Amino acid sequence: MFFMMLSCFLLCFIFCVYFCLFRVTLAPCAPKVRNNSQRTLKADATCTPKVNLMFMKTHKTASSTLMNVLLRFGEKHQLRFALPDGRNDFFYPSSFFRTQVKSYQPGLCYNIVCNHMRFNAPEVEKLLPADAFFFTILRDPAQLSESSFHYYKAYVPQTWRIPGGNQLEEFLNDPSRYFNPQGINAFYLKNLQFFDFGFENNLEADDVRVQESIEFIEKRFQLVLISDHFEESLILLKDALCWQMDDLLFFKLNARNVTSVSPMSPELRTRAREWNGADWRLYRHFNATFWALVENYGRSRMEEQVRELRRRNAEMEAICIDGGGAVEAGDITDGHMKPWQPIGKASILGYNLRSDIERQYEELCRKMLTPEIQYLTDLGVNLWVTRLWGCVHLLDLH
Ligand SMILES: *[C@@H]1O[C@H](CO)[C@@H](O)[C@H](O)[C@H]1NC(C)=O
Ligand SMILES: *[C@@H]1O[C@H](CO)[C@@H](O)[C@H](O)[C@H]1NC(C)=O
Ligand SMILES: *[C@@H]1O[C@H](CO)[C@@H](O)[C@H](O)[C@H]1NC(C)=O
Repeated sequence: MFFMMLSCFLLCFIFCVYFCLFRVTLAPCAPKVRNNSQRTLKADATCTPKVNLMFMKTHKTASSTLMNVLLRFGEKHQLRFALPDGRNDFFYPSSFFRTQVKSYQPGLCYNIVCNHMRFNAPEVEKLLPADAFFFTILRDPAQLSESSFHYYKAYVPQTWRIPGGNQLEEFLNDPSRYFNPQGINAFYLKNLQFFDFGFENNLEADDVRVQESIEFIEKRFQLVLISDHFEESLILLKDALCWQMDDLLFFKLNARNVTSVSPMSPELRTRAREWNGADWRLYRHFNATFWALVENYGRSRMEEQVRELRRRNAEMEAICIDGGGAVEAGDITDGHMKPWQPIGKASILGYNLRSDIERQYEELCRKMLTPEIQYLTDLGVNLWVTRLWGCVHLLDLH
């Protein structure tokens, strides 16, 4: 018995030492010149398209729609994605560590990182060439908190005892009565954006660390987009990355039926922003930098580009989508096109492909309409953990 314990202890010890050493000796990526993607990319006279991208995918900010754009761009140009393993995020809400990347090889450089994670700059940086372009997207915390509350409440036990027909309103009227920062998944209820960036989310808005965190993001990210102005955001991204309009085409993915979005009174919005004070400061800061960029780009030029993008999207809609718009998941005939549904009532809409799509558009239409989970599966991620949660959903706990 004693020997068994001793050998067990020794084994654990050896394993720990090995594991710790392995962790500290992981080489960062060393860029090699890769030619295949450069062949498909057209540099125009003034700039060369950027292909090394870190998209910090925040929660509930239209980031799935943007991710679909990135997945298509990466596939088209044969770029290398750093993908998660077994699930659609990098072990969120754990902090990101590069060994979480599927088939991670020390020393290898990736082109694109775009899955949900809790941001950890030094680890992300070691995956990408030094010239990688870091960008992200933020949303007004009033709308974000409404969306997050209803999407995730089944995963946040402390919300289950909130009474009333409008639980969010009840919660925001007196958060201290219901909120326990130590509760399971409590971060979904307060300053979720701050949390996503790896910061402490239970800070007061006037805490000096809030300002420091904002400055950190400002330095680390070359571009911060605003989801409340999604098309303008894409145009700024196109400009920064030297991309084409073709690269930006999108359909809104992972959106709820408007009837299941709880309307918020102006007072409730104010409360939500106060409660998420750190996120509200973060948002206001980058709202200001965003509009300064638009100003710089040229207001009328921007308007013209947004019009063009909308026209092109509408064109694609007519080409690809049966019935011309989004439908409830139950009305989607092709299982591969059904979006992931959270536990509970929030109904995420999806699309039916037209049956008479011209050959030249078939693949593009299909990819544009493929929800994130299926797209990742198509890229070779085995999402067994996520699917296990899907089974929980089928049991319909709520
Ligand atoms: C990349 O392609 C160019 C021409 O397209 C070629 O001259 C060069 O040797 C290639 N570099 C590598 C590392 O393969
Ligand atoms: C965002 O910036 C614009 C332009 O400066 C301004 O009109 C708007 O009120 C700002 N929004 C917020 C929430 O600060
Ligand atoms: C949204 O929900 C309403 C009410 O349940 C329904 O009548 C409507 O068709 C839905 N909209 C879409 C786009 O599915």
